[in-house]
Amino acid sequence: MAQPEVMASAFAPGKCILFGEHAVVFGHPAVAVAIDQGVRVRIRESLSWVLEGLPFEPSRHPHISHIIDNVFEYDGHPLNIDVESTLFSAAGMGSSAALSNAFGAALHSFLSPDEPLIPIKLAKMAHSAEATAQKGRASPTDTATSALGGFVVVSGGKVEGTRHVFDTSLVTPEGKRDWSVNVVDVPEGIGDAWLVMGFTGEGSPTGRMVAKVAKLVSSDSDRMGDLESIANITNAGLTALSAGNIEALGMAMDACHERLRNLEVSSPKLERLVEASRPHSLGAKLTGAGGGGCMVALTDNPDRVSEAIEVAGGKPLTSRLGARGVRITAD
Ligand code: PMV
Repeated sequence: MAQPEVMASAFAPGKCILFGEHAVVFGHPAVAVAIDQGVRVRIRESLSWVLEGLPFEPSRHPHISHIIDNVFEYDGHPLNIDVESTLFSAAGMGSSAALSNAFGAALHSFLSPDEPLIPIKLAKMAHSAEATAQKGRASPTDTATSALGGFVVVSGGKVEGTRHVFDTSLVTPEGKRDWSVNVVDVPEGIGDAWLVMGFTGEGSPTGRMVAKVAKLVSSDSDRMGDLESIANITNAGLTALSAGNIEALGMAMDACHERLRNLEVSSPKLERLVEASRPHSLGAKLTGAGGGGCMVALTDNPDRVSEAIEVAGGKPLTSRLGARGVRITAD
C-alpha cells in the first residue's frame, strides 16, 4: 500500500493600515488590521527543492531560506513549496509578511504536527525573516498583524487603551530600534462593518514616500503639526474601535486622509478612489505609504463601494473588519 504523502498547509492574512502611517516613523503609534485575503503555503516532501513548480533558488527567496536554515535549521528531505496569494503585491497589503508567516507555520506543522502554533513566536520569526530580506530595515507591523490577526498597534512605547503583547527590537543600519506590539480588543458587533480596499494598480514606493515626508517635515514646521494631528486622530480611532463605534471610526479615517494629503503622499488615482467610495462609506483614506498602492473604505454596503471603486478604475477587495491571524489549514 502506498504511504500517505507527508504534507502541511497554512494560511496567513494580509493587512491594511487604518491609522498612523508615516507618523509611526516618527515614534507615534500605527494601527493595522488583518484582512480576509492572504497567502496560503502548502509543503510536501519531494525529490528536489521546488518553489511554485520551479527549482528553488535560495538567494532569490531570502525570507524562505532564512526560515529553513536559520530558524528551523531544517536538513531533511527536499520540499516542494506551493504558494497561493489573494493579495495584490507591492500594494502595501503585507504580502511578504504573510508569506513568511504562512511558510513558517506550514514548516512548523510539517515538523511538529502535534505541537500548537504560537502566534507570538511566529510574529518574531517572520519579523526576523523580513529584516534579513530587507537589509535590517523592517517594522514589525505587517508580520505582527498577520500573525496575531485582529487589530494591532505598533508604537515606540506603551499605548493607552491597548493590550500589550510583546516587545521587539532590531539593529538597523541607522541604529537600534525598539517597538511595542499591542492589540485592541473590540466588541463583537464591529464585525458587521466591512472594509473595501481599492488598489490603484500602481506600486507603492515605501522608501521614497518616507524620504519625501522626512524632507517636507524638516523644511515646513506646519507639516510636523500634521504628523501630530495624525497621532491624535489615531488615538480617537483607537477609542472608537474599543467602543465599537464605527461611525466615529469612519470619521477618524476621513480626518487621517486629509492629514496624509497635506503630507503629499496621496496621488490623483488614490484621490479618485477615495472620492468614489465616500458617498457609500462611513470613512475612506489612503492606506500605507501612499504615492500609489491602496485606499481603504469602511462601509456597511461593500457591494456599492466595490462597484464605485471599479468604475473609478481601481481593483476592489472586500474584507470583514478584523480577520483571524495565521493558522494551520487542513488542505
Ligand atoms: O505601505 P506599507 O504597508 O509598506 O506601509 C508603510 C507605512 C509607513 O509608515 C509609511 C512606513 C513604515 O515603515 O511604517
